[in-house]
Amino acid sequence: MNIVVMGAQWGDEGKGKIVDYLAADSGVIVRFSGGANAGHTIVIGSERYALHLVPSGILYPDKTVILGTGMVIDPEALFLELSGLEGKGIDWKGRVLISDRAHLVLPSHRRIDKELDAARKKPIGTTGRGIGVAYGMKSHRDGIRVADMDDPERLVNLEASDRDFVEAWRDRILPMKVDLVTYLRHRRNTYVLFEGAQGALLDLDTGSYPFVSSGMSCSAGAAAQGGVGPRRIDRVLGVFKAYTTRVGNGPFPTEFADNSPGSLQAYIRDTGNEYGVTTGRPRRVGYLDLVALRYACAANSIDRLVLTHLDVYDELAEFETCVAYRLRGKLVDDFPASIRDLEESTPVLRRFRGWKAPISACRSWEELPREAKEYVQFIEEFTETPVSMVSVGSDRNQTIVRESPWARG
Ligand code: GDP
Ligand code: IMO
Ligand code: MG
Repeated sequence: MNIVVMGAQWGDEGKGKIVDYLAADSGVIVRFSGGANAGHTIVIGSERYALHLVPSGILYPDKTVILGTGMVIDPEALFLELSGLEGKGIDWKGRVLISDRAHLVLPSHRRIDKELDAARKKPIGTTGRGIGVAYGMKSHRDGIRVADMDDPERLVNLEASDRDFVEAWRDRILPMKVDLVTYLRHRRNTYVLFEGAQGALLDLDTGSYPFVSSGMSCSAGAAAQGGVGPRRIDRVLGVFKAYTTRVGNGPFPTEFADNSPGSLQAYIRDTGNEYGVTTGRPRRVGYLDLVALRYACAANSIDRLVLTHLDVYDELAEFETCVAYRLRGKLVDDFPASIRDLEESTPVLRRFRGWKAPISACRSWEELPREAKEYVQFIEEFTETPVSMVSVGSDRNQTIVRESPWARG
């Protein structure tokens, strides 16, 4: 069985936590997109792990994790991360494989990424990890893949410092390479988790372009770039927060205007620890945007939702959620392509009563307060998509499973 776990908002929905949780029942975990722009957090007791390139199944000693074809990989960042894991007692050797068709991020990509964004009149606010440039070179057909690292002819057009970089990392990267398609073809009966990075609204095609990342963070990314075709995907899980966050620039219709100390934005940011894992930037915060979530479900054939951060609302007497946009005096039900329309859209909000009780110790649907269940049920009706898991805290075990995603049907 093959399950895709993807972000259904603008990233940081808690994908790492959910992939880690589900990985217990899978054999192989394949990350299908993005690079070291991602930051996926896993919390187990007092230990916190921040992963950027390494797939989130790595913490189980018996799982194989694979950096897929759709990723752009900076070998220096990868080995920094691997040595950090080693320092925490994680034995990764022989369990971390890299698709031989994945592309590399080179030092010049990082430099150009920062220069380009600084030169933009309206910067995207990239992570500066060279991501857009590496994907650009790939599309331009000037990229360097893992399989090219020991082919001198593929390296001739590189500037000297990039060539030196490839040669310096070659002997450590090449022993990890794998033909991903063949690997998965030989493991048809293995349960595979495909881990997305970023989210539906940061996807190059379906996101809020140009304020997006450059990879395929959509579910189709798993099929195109995860080593299998679309008919081998059995389930698409869309992870989303009880509210919305965004890091970097770009339109965000439900963003709270007030960012002052004591504001709701500051409260949620502090309670939910909403600071970027990769850059440390404070995340922008707003109410849940159901127009955007319904769009993400449709664009990705998400067939089950996973709600995270519900506990962050524990103290609120009431809260709201966006059920439509108002654009130049008209009501809009669908997520617009035009960036100007999105910027000028204001949310039509529906009010909910809070539960005013701690829910982080709940382990079953029945234990959740009535008001929390009503919120979840409204989301299911609006998006026409069942919520099969609810996360009530950052820890691995603070997870409620209503229906196992591995169950067929
Ligand atoms: P990812 O990029 O989608 O993997 O998400 P990040 O790791 O960037 O951000 C999610 C943050 O929320 C991390 O600090 C997680 O430890 C934390 N987290 C995940 N799920 C929950 C939850 O249900 N409740 C709370 N309070 N925190 C959560
Ligand atoms: P995870 O996997 C949140 C954002 C950046 C910027 C835009 C483009 O942790 O959810 P890039 O460096 O990719 O060219 O930046 O995309 N961005 C993310 N935001 N979570 C992420 O990953 C992100 N990866 C990129 O902040 O706005
Ligand atoms: Mg993140």
